[in-house]
Amino acid sequence: MTESQDSLQASTATDPDSASTSQAEIDDEIAGIRDDYERAGTDETQPRLDYPPYRSSLLRHPTKDLHHADPETIELVAPVFGHRDVAQLESDLTIQHHGEPVGERIVITGKVLDGDGRPVRNQLVEIWQANAAGRYIHKRDQHPAPIDPNFTGTGRALTDDEGTYVFSTIKPGPYPWKNHHNAWRPAHIHFSLFGTEFTQRMITQMYFPGDPLFALDPIYQSIVDPKARERLVATYDHDVTRHEWATGYRWDIVLTGTHRTPLEEAHS
Ligand SMILES: [Fe+2]
Repeated sequence: MTESQDSLQASTATDPDSASTSQAEIDDEIAGIRDDYERAGTDETQPRLDYPPYRSSLLRHPTKDLHHADPETIELVAPVFGHRDVAQLESDLTIQHHGEPVGERIVITGKVLDGDGRPVRNQLVEIWQANAAGRYIHKRDQHPAPIDPNFTGTGRALTDDEGTYVFSTIKPGPYPWKNHHNAWRPAHIHFSLFGTEFTQRMITQMYFPGDPLFALDPIYQSIVDPKARERLVATYDHDVTRHEWATGYRWDIVLTGTHRTPLEEAHS
């Protein structure tokens, strides 16, 4: 899912009257799918492509096998970046304007790991997010929360030799979307990672612990296995918290294997 497509695509939901669906009806649908999943006794690690409570998921995903391109051919025309193209300061989303953004300053760090627990070095990690009031800088996001002139909400970093990334930012607020009546997304930060090739882009969302909106959110619940979706939730880490400056969260991303971080289908 690209920038706030979760909110943007609500306008193309399969049900033109989706905003008339109540949270209670969505809750019932989520519970029904969860019960079926528990009865089936299978082990899913990824979001479902077809997840009816998440209305726009029904029309959006591919119905045919993807066209497989030759990665080496793609590399000839794909953008490239080197160490010098990603400046250290780009990982601090709080210093991109003249003034300080409003909100709760946070540090997020973690490792990008492969399925065997090995660090993935020099990985380009990009993030985008709403501001503290839950507002994106995007013309399609028009809900009446203030734009922060000192916060754009995008940043990027390269992982170091231990596979570690670090971002300084502002804790995003929850925001409404049009999946159903009174639908709200839990606070989240979108993450994008490139592998060793630009054909390996992976996109996911990181959440904050204890969010009361988890149970109500069809996007979070579209990962029907509770253990898998909990892998999208960062943990508060007091060792990451900085004295009189910012609270700290830790969130590792596992690219492959049985503990793989749930990922969204790649979109351009
Ligand atoms: Fe979002």
